[in-house]
Amino acid sequence: MDKLIIEGGHPLKGEVNISGAKNSAVAILPAAILAGETCTIKNLPDIKDVSNIIDILIQLGARVEREGHDKLIVNSNNIDTYKVDFELSKKLRASYYFIGALLGRFKKAEVPFPGGCDIGVRPIDQHIKGFEALGAKITIEHGIIRAEADKLVGASIFLDVVSVGATINIMLAACMAKGTTTIENAAKEPYIVDTANFLNALGANIKGAGTDEIKIKGVERLGGCEHAIIPDQMEAGTYMIAAAASKGNVLVKNIIPTHLDSISAKMKEMGVEIIENGDSLRVIANGRPKAANIKTMPYPGFPTDLQQPMSVLLSVADGTAIINESIYDGRFKHVDELKKMGAKINVEGRIAVIEGVPKLSGAPVCATDLRAGAAMVVAGLSAEGETIISNLAHIERGYERLERKLLELGAKIKRVSEED
Ligand code: EPU
Repeated sequence: MDKLIIEGGHPLKGEVNISGAKNSAVAILPAAILAGETCTIKNLPDIKDVSNIIDILIQLGARVEREGHDKLIVNSNNIDTYKVDFELSKKLRASYYFIGALLGRFKKAEVPFPGGCDIGVRPIDQHIKGFEALGAKITIEHGIIRAEADKLVGASIFLDVVSVGATINIMLAACMAKGTTTIENAAKEPYIVDTANFLNALGANIKGAGTDEIKIKGVERLGGCEHAIIPDQMEAGTYMIAAAASKGNVLVKNIIPTHLDSISAKMKEMGVEIIENGDSLRVIANGRPKAANIKTMPYPGFPTDLQQPMSVLLSVADGTAIINESIYDGRFKHVDELKKMGAKINVEGRIAVIEGVPKLSGAPVCATDLRAGAAMVVAGLSAEGETIISNLAHIERGYERLERKLLELGAKIKRVSEED
């Protein structure tokens, strides 16, 4: 098991290029199962969650060819099974997209329960409600979700909670259903729009993605396409926060700034300078940030995925801040780790009260989940002394070439293996 060692206190300076969005990539790759012809997917992030999804495509019989580090050519014509392997499925959350994609293509799917970060209760009842509304029969036995339909017929589905996964999964199943499907109270995250754009490029008829009402008119068949994944707003946000926490000056490149509006607005409120310019954004932080309150919300609100890294910036802010985590009931596991570095945080249910301290101090800490790991990296960069982060597998699931990017920004960071 490797560890990251960070010598804190060096301001990040320079430019960083943001990779393709994890949560788009892990939806678009399963969506390629619906394509009747070859798909070329570009700007694919080189991260563990993506290679895990590719492993499932290969297990199902798809032909997959990599070109360079960020391009993948997928042909699903030879897929001859609708059953996803148990071990592969539990490696990540997004394996649930194979239910919608396989159901859409074969009218049958068998997918073991997905894994993913331990950040609280993560039911999939809204996905199931959507599949059932389209005419599928769902059974759950021995940890496997089985979906089966004679035919899929368009339906009106009102989601009880705004769910990224359920919105995308229903879109996948509905693309080739008979008639029109309407998803109301749909999620509006950029990943939804990206996946809808991909499906439309294949020949689907999806309107309204990015609003809370999506209409999907079923088509007979989907073809192939070439598609570039959007930039990762969570990776970009993490570097923005890291720049501010280290009191640096960083140009975050290859982004869609509007996807980051809630983060930019919050950081400006905290006194951090943010200058947008085309597809990049400069973050300049001179002094200590001011405290500000945060409530996590579905897009376009402040994203739950950046709550953990942001809690680090608030830990060193001037004043007291309140975080209200409204999406997940277990997304404060990183707080105990931050406390080892001197943070003053009190958690009560979904509320964290953070009393800013002038400085954190380096300590051995653990990445308890993906974004908790990112938070530990941000904390290590801003702290005085050495921080040793273990359990890096979580971080590798979602951040491409993290150490290299940080080294290029002047961070003092190195990876060592346990034996070193
Ligand atoms: N929910 C239900 N029933 C459902 C589905 C969701 O009650 O059937 C609830 C969840 O428990 C949660 C809320 O609805 O309280 C939102 O969950 P959502 O379905 O939107 O989450 P997800 O699709 O499982 C995706 C991202 C997460 C991100 C959330 C919220 C992927 C693969 N994952 O998860 O990303 O936190 O949306 O934006 O797209 C991450 O990247 O670190 C990460 C965890």
